[in-house]
Amino acid sequence: MANKKTEIISESVEQTLEIGRKIGSLLEGGKVISLVGQLGSGKTTLIKGIAAGMGAKSSQIVNSPTFVIVNEYQGRLNIFHIDAYRINTIEEFAAIGFEDFIGPESIVLVEWADKVSQALEGYDLIQIRMQHKDQNTRIIEITGLERI
Ligand SMILES: Nc1ncnc2c1ncn2[C@@H]1O[C@H](COP(=O)(O)OP(=O)(O)O)[C@@H](O)[C@H]1O
Ligand SMILES: [Mg+2]
Repeated sequence: MANKKTEIISESVEQTLEIGRKIGSLLEGGKVISLVGQLGSGKTTLIKGIAAGMGAKSSQIVNSPTFVIVNEYQGRLNIFHIDAYRINTIEEFAAIGFEDFIGPESIVLVEWADKVSQALEGYDLIQIRMQHKDQNTRIIEITGLERI
């Protein structure tokens, strides 16, 4: 059931963080998590929850910084958060070492994954699509996570 699709409605930042923590508690090493959704749809908020749910210290968890493309957190696995917003080609994505981050002891989260979707093909992928419904409501669609 690797392609099971789940849709969850979040009605607050705290709910998105909680959903993230739940996802984080379920993740296994070797996974790549793609996050797609418009600016403000909650991708970074969800990632904060995922990192927290994997045991990363909250003091480590920061917003997507403006110029840094890769953030690394230490939880029960190594967590790499790549923000592909400013990446324009597959070559640029490869050059930041995407493939080197993947491994049995790590989780790779790719924000703005639609910009580099070709490069993600063939990996053990969980796809998360976020939609901005209204001020505090977000639809979170998850594909590839067996249970949530
Ligand atoms: N239910 C919700 N889940 C996540 N963020 C929300 C929610 N409701 C309102 N927000 C707001 O939306 C914004 C989401 O920002 P962020 O997580 O950085 O999005 P993205 O990374 O997709 O651009 C924040 O300002 C947050 O306060
Ligand atoms: Mg973001």
